[in-house]
Amino acid sequence: MPSKILIVHGPNLNMLGEREINVYGKFTLDEINRDLQAKAKELGVEIETVQLNGEGEMVDALQQAKNKFAAIVINPGAYTHYSIAIRDALAAISLPVVEVHLSNIYAREEFRHKSVIAPVAAGQVTGFGKNSYVLGLMAAVSLIKK
Ligand code: DQA
Repeated sequence: MPSKILIVHGPNLNMLGEREINVYGKFTLDEINRDLQAKAKELGVEIETVQLNGEGEMVDALQQAKNKFAAIVINPGAYTHYSIAIRDALAAISLPVVEVHLSNIYAREEFRHKSVIAPVAAGQVTGFGKNSYVLGLMAAVSLIKK
């Protein structure tokens, strides 16, 4: 039984640090991944991180995660709001999923209020900046230890 957790960063998250700083903050994706590695070590779990811009690439990565990982923490970026393909991939692999967002999607434009991913996730962490990922990882660990 694998005990590793896959962290998936979606489109445009490679631009953190230079992208809409007023919304997302000044930290970079590397800093988020470093925080996650530190938290994983503290929690005694292994993680792998991946950033993908393409919807199909994300579907491929999720399908391949099926027998390799125990849970998924995912920030699907803009795909959150409309990608049935990513939702279906998550449903197909039937691993515990935690959806995370840096910003509070419910406090932003109306088109961001809907997540098509949320119904196939165990839960959602939204609005805590880079801590959303750390909180998401903690949630994933508690799900696999259940
Ligand atoms: C985001 C929120 C999405 O609406 C947006 O398209 C992103 C980032 C977040 O982390 O706050 O790319 O997922």
